[in-house]
Amino acid sequence: MDGGFSLPPTRRLLGGPPLAGGREPLAEHRRRLGNPARGLTGEELIEALETSGLLGRGGAGFPVGAKWRRMAEVGQRRPVILVNGAEGEPLSAKDRVLMGVRPHLVLDGAALAAEALDAEEIVVYIGEEHGAARESIEQAIAERLVAGEGFGRPIRLVAAPMGYVSGEASAAVNRVNTGSALPTVSPPRPSEVGVAGRPTLVQNVESLAYAALIGMFGADWYREMGRLGSRGTALVTVGGEVARRGVREIELGMSLGELADAAGADRGTTRAVLVGGYFGSWIDAAEAWSLPLDPAIMRERGLSFGCGLVWFLPGGACPVAATARIMAFMAGNSAGQCGPCVLGLGAISNAMSGLAGGDGSKDDLARIERWAGMVRGRGACRHPDGAVEVLTSALRTFPAELEVHAGGTACGTTASCRRAA
Ligand SMILES: Cc1cc2nc3c(=O)[nH]c(=O)nc-3n(C[C@H](O)[C@H](O)[C@H](O)COP(=O)(O)O)c2cc1C
Ligand code: SF4
Repeated sequence: MDGGFSLPPTRRLLGGPPLAGGREPLAEHRRRLGNPARGLTGEELIEALETSGLLGRGGAGFPVGAKWRRMAEVGQRRPVILVNGAEGEPLSAKDRVLMGVRPHLVLDGAALAAEALDAEEIVVYIGEEHGAARESIEQAIAERLVAGEGFGRPIRLVAAPMGYVSGEASAAVNRVNTGSALPTVSPPRPSEVGVAGRPTLVQNVESLAYAALIGMFGADWYREMGRLGSRGTALVTVGGEVARRGVREIELGMSLGELADAAGADRGTTRAVLVGGYFGSWIDAAEAWSLPLDPAIMRERGLSFGCGLVWFLPGGACPVAATARIMAFMAGNSAGQCGPCVLGLGAISNAMSGLAGGDGSKDDLARIERWAGMVRGRGACRHPDGAVEVLTSALRTFPAELEVHAGGTACGTTASCRRAA
C-alpha cells in the first residue's frame, strides 16, 4: 500500500524495485523509465514544468517552472545548479531515502536543469549525517561516468553541516562559497548572486526528480495524478505512534485518515498529528482524519504541507512537552545572526520548557502568545516564522493541556508529567 492510487507503478518517484533493494543501478533505471527528456529543448522543458504546475518540495512550495524561467531569463553569467539534499528537518527522511534508492532520477533532474539553463557547474549538497545517501549519489555519478554519460560540466558534492538552517538556500550557497552554512542576512538572493558569484538555482532533490519524470512523460501525465486541486504525488515521512513508519509516496489529495490507516495509526488513541515538519502545524485528531493532504487546500486552511512530514502523537504523550522539545530544537538551531530569532526563540523555548515541566504560570502562557507575534517576520530567513507557526498551532490545538500546565502543574499524561505534577 503506497497511497492507494491506481496509476502505473513504474512511473513514480519511488516506482520500480522494492526500496529494500537499495540503490537502483543505472541500467535498470534506464530500462524502466527510458531516456530523460525525450529530446526536448530547454525551452520546451521549462514550458512543460510551467504547465505541470509542479511545486518545490523543499518546504516553501514555489513553482519549479517559474524558477527555471526566471533563471533562463537573467542571462549574462552561466548559472550553477545547487541540488539541495541537506534535509535538516530532524524527523524527515524522504530526501535521503530518495537519494539512497533512486539517485539516477535525482541526477537526471540535475542534468536536465543544467542542460536547460546552460549551467556552469552542478553542486550536490547533502547533509553530512546522511552517509548512505551521499554514498549512493557518489556511486551513481561514478557509474554514469563509466557508462559515458557525463554531465557536460563539472559536478561535485559538498557536505551540509548538521543543523536546521544549513538547508536554507542562502546558507547552502554560503557553505559552498565560504565553508560556513549561515543564511545571508541581506539581498542579493542566490538566484541573483550565488555559488562563485553566479546566479544559482537551488532546488530540492524531490523537485528535481519530478522535473526528470515530467521531462520523460510530460505535463499532462503529471496532471493526471492528484485527487483534488494539487497535482502529482509526493513523498511523505510517516512517524510517531504508527505500526509502519517510513517514507512512502502518496497521491496528493488523499486524506490524512487514509494515510493513518495505511501506516497503522490508531485513530481512536491518537491525540494529534504534526503535519509539515517543525515549520508545520499540529492538528487535533478530531479534525485530522478528513484533512486532504493537498498543499493548496492546506494553505487555504492556514496549514502547510511543508516537507511532507506526518507525525502521530499518541494520547499517552504530553503535547506541551512535545511542543517544548520542538521549540528547544528551533531555538538551539537559530543561526544566531538576528536578534528577534536568537532572543525571541530562546525566551519562548525557556517559557515552554517551564510550562512543560509543571513550573509555569498563566503569565508565561500570555507572554509566549505575545512573543510569538513579535518574532514572526523579524529574521533574515524564515526560521523564526516556521517555529512560530508550529507554536501557534499548539496554542490552538492544546488549549486544555496548556491551561492545566499554566496552573503551575503538569497535565499528568506522561510519566515525566506525573512526576512534575
Ligand atoms: C530554515 C530553513 C531550512 C531549510 N532547509 C531545507 C532543506 O533541508 N532542504 C531543502 O530542500 N530546502 C530547505 N529549505 C528551503 C530552501 O531555502 C529552498 O527554498 C529550497 O531548497 C528550494 O527548493 P524547492 O523550490 O525545490 O523546494 C529551508 C528553508 C529554511 C527557511
Ligand atoms: S532568522 Fe534566525 S536562523 Fe535565520 S538568519 Fe536570522 S538568526 Fe539565523
